[in-house]
Amino acid sequence: MPGPRRTLIAGNWKMNGLKAQVPEFSAMAAGYDATLQAKADMLICPPATLLARLADIAAVTGVMVGGQDCHALASGAHTGDISAEMLKDAGASAVILGHSERRADHREGDAVVEAKVKAAWRTGLLPVVCVGETLAEREAGEAANLVRRQVRQSVPDGATADTLVIAYEPIWAIGTGLIPSPEDVAEVHATVRKVLVERFGAEGNGIRILYGGSVKPDNAALLLSIPDVDGALVGGASLKAADFLAIARAAP
Ligand code: 13P
Repeated sequence: MPGPRRTLIAGNWKMNGLKAQVPEFSAMAAGYDATLQAKADMLICPPATLLARLADIAAVTGVMVGGQDCHALASGAHTGDISAEMLKDAGASAVILGHSERRADHREGDAVVEAKVKAAWRTGLLPVVCVGETLAEREAGEAANLVRRQVRQSVPDGATADTLVIAYEPIWAIGTGLIPSPEDVAEVHATVRKVLVERFGAEGNGIRILYGGSVKPDNAALLLSIPDVDGALVGGASLKAADFLAIARAAP
């Protein structure tokens, strides 16, 4: 029986961050003090080029670092790709999979994402599987159906509270400053929860569901207070220690 869901505040740096950004991460790690540690887990997913460097700093602080994608295979002739094993070797403990930017830029469908989740499990990485609708899908009343399908098809059988995180990121809310109404967030998160419980029983109740899309210090408390919102996946505001820490402090 999984315990109560612990809030997870995760940052996705996307294709941002040079060596000059390392002190910003150090500031985040330093700010992850006993008070914050008591209420939330913290994860930063930098570009792969910074992963090992940040992992060394993270090791003594309790902050986790993760990848932003991985290949389904462990190694081989796949120029430019990075395997889950490589992320793990660099010090990662998690990996974002199926982000809408991967789904759009690299035409990743649910089956590809599902194979990557298995790769994460193979190495003991915690997959953060992203789902979410376009504006057209929302306006067509299809958001819940789309997200239901993505959760069913992107997640393999056998997920548990300790081996899966879902992130609901409405695509139209990413980088736009727009967020759905709390009622709309609650509805989608309840839909995701229902699918998780149908598929994974009691474990499904323990799986964390993050909200992502224009999470900022000034809206974090509201978003994190919504039922079944177990944390946040933060893009732009995760690049600045002050903003990211402010979001983490807004956790209930
Ligand atoms: P923003 O917080 O910049 O809207 O990005 C959200 C996101 O895509 C995180 O994965």
